[in-house]
Amino acid sequence: MQDGFGRKIDYLRISVTDRCNFRCQYCMSEKMTFMPKSELLTLEEITLIAERFVTHGIRKIRLTGGEPLVRRDMKDVIQRLGRKVETGELEELTLTTNGSLLEEYADHLAQHNIRRINVSMDTTDPTRFSEITRGADVHKVLAGIAAVKSVGIDVKINMVALRSFNQDDLLPMAEYCAEQGHDLTIIETMPLGDTGADRKLEHVSVEEFIAPLQSQYELTPIAHRSAGPARYEMVEPLGLRLGLITPLSQNFCDGCNRLRLTTDGKIFMCLGHNAHVDLRAAVRKDGISAVDQLLRQALKLKPLRHDFNAQLNGSAEKLERHMNVTGG
Ligand code: 5AD
Ligand code: SF4
Repeated sequence: MQDGFGRKIDYLRISVTDRCNFRCQYCMSEKMTFMPKSELLTLEEITLIAERFVTHGIRKIRLTGGEPLVRRDMKDVIQRLGRKVETGELEELTLTTNGSLLEEYADHLAQHNIRRINVSMDTTDPTRFSEITRGADVHKVLAGIAAVKSVGIDVKINMVALRSFNQDDLLPMAEYCAEQGHDLTIIETMPLGDTGADRKLEHVSVEEFIAPLQSQYELTPIAHRSAGPARYEMVEPLGLRLGLITPLSQNFCDGCNRLRLTTDGKIFMCLGHNAHVDLRAAVRKDGISAVDQLLRQALKLKPLRHDFNAQLNGSAEKLERHMNVTGG
């Protein structure tokens, strides 16, 4: 598949649920309301749509949310899509999770060809972790990470850079990740949906955020690439591979290979734009073959780049959608 700008599209991210057992301050408001269950794609629909996308050239799938593992029967989706890795139709199946349920899921993930996962963790400090997630327990997450690691799954930790909140946590996080052999990726906050906080205050560029690491260690750019938009540096002598995701400070849309399937069955071609096509109604009315035509239409909708900077400084209209609906 190619979009209107000649970019090859082979990576699908699926938000399997907008629900989450955490309430991270930059992601949701405290009293977040979720979609009525009837709006959600069924697990059968998710699997069928994903399989159809694979026949059109999707090679990598990431399951995300919300928290994908809070959805009941996720084990079935993982099992069915994991089979596509075995047959070679998919290069990889991955997961972005908050880590809280990994102890329960570790074996199942490993059995069904999930070889690496991303865990969102913005600090290892129990008090600050509880504050940023509005009440979650970091020990549960650390135990979950250890559980997946023990069954051979690689872990990348995603840390959202929050001005004057977790910059002091960067060195302990880097040391923890290096010691455990996890990659660490720093992500700039994006202005998505109303969370009740001022994003201008929260936003800090990755460059500024990692300054304390740079003053203590040697950072060298490396050629490593993953499926997503991160560029990587080696941190020595820690031996840490550090990913940097810079949606605001250094645009990476030229190389975008992604499309997103939302919890309620829409295809969004960009996290930062509202243009989409609605698969759910079409598939319910005309069956799974309705995907083919709508996917062609969606490819034409993919914009050249997002406008997060304009949205952040108020010169473009704000995005109503929260990250948990479109998928991280
Ligand atoms: N900006 C940047 N990252 C975000 N995430 C959630 N909301 C935002 C936001 N507004 C992160 C989560 C997770 C990933 C799915 O996206 O921490 O790592
Ligand atoms: Fe849940 Fe992830 Fe949003 Fe936190 S960032 S509330 S863990 S979906």
